[in-house]
Amino acid sequence: MSPRHLTFRIFRYNPDTPKHPPSIQSYELQEETGMTLFIVLNKIREEQDPSLKFDFVCRAGICGSCGMLINGRPTLACKTLTRDLPAEISLMPLPVFKLLGDLSVDTGMWFRDVSLRTEAWVHTGKTFNPNEQEERMDNETALNIYEVERCIECGCCIGGCATANIKPDFIGAAGVNRVSRFMIDPRDERDEQEYFEVVGSEDGIFGCVGLMACDDNCPIGIPLQGQLAYVRRKMAVAGWKR
Ligand code: SF4
Ligand code: SF4
Ligand code: FES
Repeated sequence: MSPRHLTFRIFRYNPDTPKHPPSIQSYELQEETGMTLFIVLNKIREEQDPSLKFDFVCRAGICGSCGMLINGRPTLACKTLTRDLPAEISLMPLPVFKLLGDLSVDTGMWFRDVSLRTEAWVHTGKTFNPNEQEERMDNETALNIYEVERCIECGCCIGGCATANIKPDFIGAAGVNRVSRFMIDPRDERDEQEYFEVVGSEDGIFGCVGLMACDDNCPIGIPLQGQLAYVRRKMAVAGWKR
């Protein structure tokens, strides 16, 4: 089969030059075997347009920096093969996050803000003693924590979330997932009322409409549906007790 001719329609906008309105620019390319969107975008930048902005670090689905809307669906560009896409491909930046230019968005500031707002660290009254043996945890709990800690902060669950797209302060599935990580950690001494303060609101778990786009879009398969249900249940009980 002869290689396909691919057309990429890519969002262009530079917030530093607001006089130039946003536009869609087309680029043409011959498909190659095993071609990912990482290869495509680098080829376009090297051979056709050095001004095109996008982010990649690891190229292996680990760093979370290459999330974008690919034919309307939020996912990782480095893990997407052109052979799984039609010959016309649209690339847009993830919504919700601050646009840095073209396909590049600032997920880091968003995640930092959510970490601070949800107090995403182990709350304990114990003082650290470097000479003591490390605290033990049963295997099942450790594995549960590990499972939700796999989040690579790519922002795909946020970009595809209806609530996050209309409510700028909504912490989204990634934020709720992070809170659940501390709820299941026996070292965190916060009680349910303290958790309610950080996540029991319309900007937290009660803003979620439950249609599960986040669960469908998470490129590494974090069980977001289960985590949202777990936090919703706990916070409903905490709210009822108030
Ligand atoms: S289920 Fe909730 S968090 Fe997930 S996409 Fe829908 S509104 Fe957003
Ligand atoms: S939960 Fe999944 S989709 Fe959301 S930021 Fe983490 S890895 Fe990305
Ligand atoms: S470049 Fe790291 S996840 Fe895609």
